[in-house]
Amino acid sequence: MLSIKKFVPYKFLAVVLAALCAAGCKGKMKGEERPDPYRAARERMVRVQLESRDITDGRVLAAFRKVPRHAFVPAEYQNSAYGDFPLPIGEGQTISQPYMVAIMTQLLKLKGDEKVLEVGTGSGYQAAILGELCKEVYTIELIPGLAESAAKRLDSLGYANIHVKAGDGYLGWPDAAPFDGIIITCAPEKLPKPLVEQLAIGGRLVVPVGPQHTAQTLTIYTKTDTGLVKRYEGGCYFVPMRGMIEKD
Ligand SMILES: C[S@@+](CC[C@H](N)C(=O)[O-])C[C@H]1O[C@@H](n2cnc3c(N)ncnc32)[C@H](O)[C@@H]1O
Repeated sequence: MLSIKKFVPYKFLAVVLAALCAAGCKGKMKGEERPDPYRAARERMVRVQLESRDITDGRVLAAFRKVPRHAFVPAEYQNSAYGDFPLPIGEGQTISQPYMVAIMTQLLKLKGDEKVLEVGTGSGYQAAILGELCKEVYTIELIPGLAESAAKRLDSLGYANIHVKAGDGYLGWPDAAPFDGIIITCAPEKLPKPLVEQLAIGGRLVVPVGPQHTAQTLTIYTKTDTGLVKRYEGGCYFVPMRGMIEKD
């Protein structure tokens, strides 16, 4: 007959083995050991679309090699996720062309310690790229459904330094200001004043400015003690910024 003294160690051993097995299974379910079927496509995207153009910041290129863009598009577009074009993400919105995400990111000149605000979370892809390159990212999306799915996606990918909220990005995120960088990934006709106020001295704000449904100008503002210094980077095309800006 099994005495209680002999039974307890076996039971303990069984619990330990079960826990070890569960830990192993959990790792696999997170996909850490699975081969990435899009690795080659992502590498091609970086070489052909970014390096061969004017993306030279090594940290930016490394972030694009790492972030799984296919995880940010609807299932039916996953095979096109690394193409040289924007893609629909639902609600009439788009994930921007990889090059456009890269050039806007590069223009922020991030070193790693910054706090950055993004207006226009969309899929969360731009936020994930920023999350690789700076300390904290605050990102605002006007459409609640997109904000919710982006927050879940970023959480499941382990981005603890990215904060998502649904709301009007025109107002910025005053509680988290000032920001060392601000990136607006929808197009206002003019620069929202609250965002200028929330930019730190020395900070950079990258934005496509221009009238709705026509080409806009990618513009970089640098805040100095005496005001804003403006520089134009070239033409682009973004979905319009909506909300309060329309009443401004
Ligand atoms: C081109 S998409 C952004 C793509 C996104 N950065 C990504 O990586 O997928 C523009 C987004 O800006 C959002 N948007 C438009 N006006 C806004 C506003 N006032 N505040 C916040 N988001 C806004 C749109 O709903 C849309 O999701």
